[in-house]
Amino acid sequence: MFDKNLLLEKDRSIAVLTVNRPDRLNAIDNATVEDLDSALARIEADKDIRVLILTGAGDKAFVAGADIQELSERDRVSGRRDTRRRQEVYTRLEQLEIPSIAAINGFALGTGLELAMVCTFRIASTTAQLGQPEVKLGIIPGAGGTQRLPRLIGQGPALEMILTGEPISAERALQIGLVNRVVPPDRLLEECRSLAQNLASRPRLALQYGKEAVLRAGEGSLTEGLAHESYLHALACASDDKREGVTAFLKKRAPRFTGR
Ligand code: COA
Repeated sequence: MFDKNLLLEKDRSIAVLTVNRPDRLNAIDNATVEDLDSALARIEADKDIRVLILTGAGDKAFVAGADIQELSERDRVSGRRDTRRRQEVYTRLEQLEIPSIAAINGFALGTGLELAMVCTFRIASTTAQLGQPEVKLGIIPGAGGTQRLPRLIGQGPALEMILTGEPISAERALQIGLVNRVVPPDRLLEECRSLAQNLASRPRLALQYGKEAVLRAGEGSLTEGLAHESYLHALACASDDKREGVTAFLKKRAPRFTGR
């Protein structure tokens, strides 16, 4: 579906969204951001979808950054407008009720890394390179990189990546916790699907609340975070799936979750 910029496919409970501009190494322009927003609206509306996998077309790039052709026209006014819009759409992806997995099949640079960072999980191929190279163009990240990268990997490593602009390998990204797993390119989608199937077998509300609680850990105080965790835990206690999960354990049988 959608036009040429994005492809959305669904295989039972797993949706795969592919950034489809391989001749530009899947660089993201403003039109692609709007397509992403529309795709997210469809994903949110389809309650059969339990997990989203996000990847890039071709075997070279996940997303090689913002479209530099378009960037060449960006000025002070459009710079503010475009980055705020990207932040808004990427945050929508981050806050999906369902988990998402970035299948990083090559370059994840600039806004490509920012996009991967709003996914719940990141699995990279051994050939991937990840970086925030904006400084080489005389700018800084604008779609969340300066805020999410230090939260994920700490201030020191984030400053090094953002101020030098040098990309890091998938192995290094694994060492510093920027990606969850690294696999050979020909196993990338299989690995992502296997994680997606595991997640899809879990009770929907527990996943939603667990994700929401962990995202809260990156903001605000510990006191507020603990209170929020406790409220979400209490909500989960009221679910059918909690009753089913506990009963199944006590009766030594497999649970049959309904998502309620
Ligand atoms: N925006 C627009 N076009 C891009 C692009 C981007 N971010 N990244 C790559 N492309 C285009 C190239 O211009 C080239 O187009 P052409 O075939 O018409 O010349 C095509 O994609 C292939 O890229 P190329 O540079 O030839 O591939 P490479 O293997 O030599 O290098 C990269 C790959 C990723 C190292 C290099 O393309 C690059 O540095 N891209 C920009 C990364 C960046 O700075 N991103 C942050 C932007 S804020």
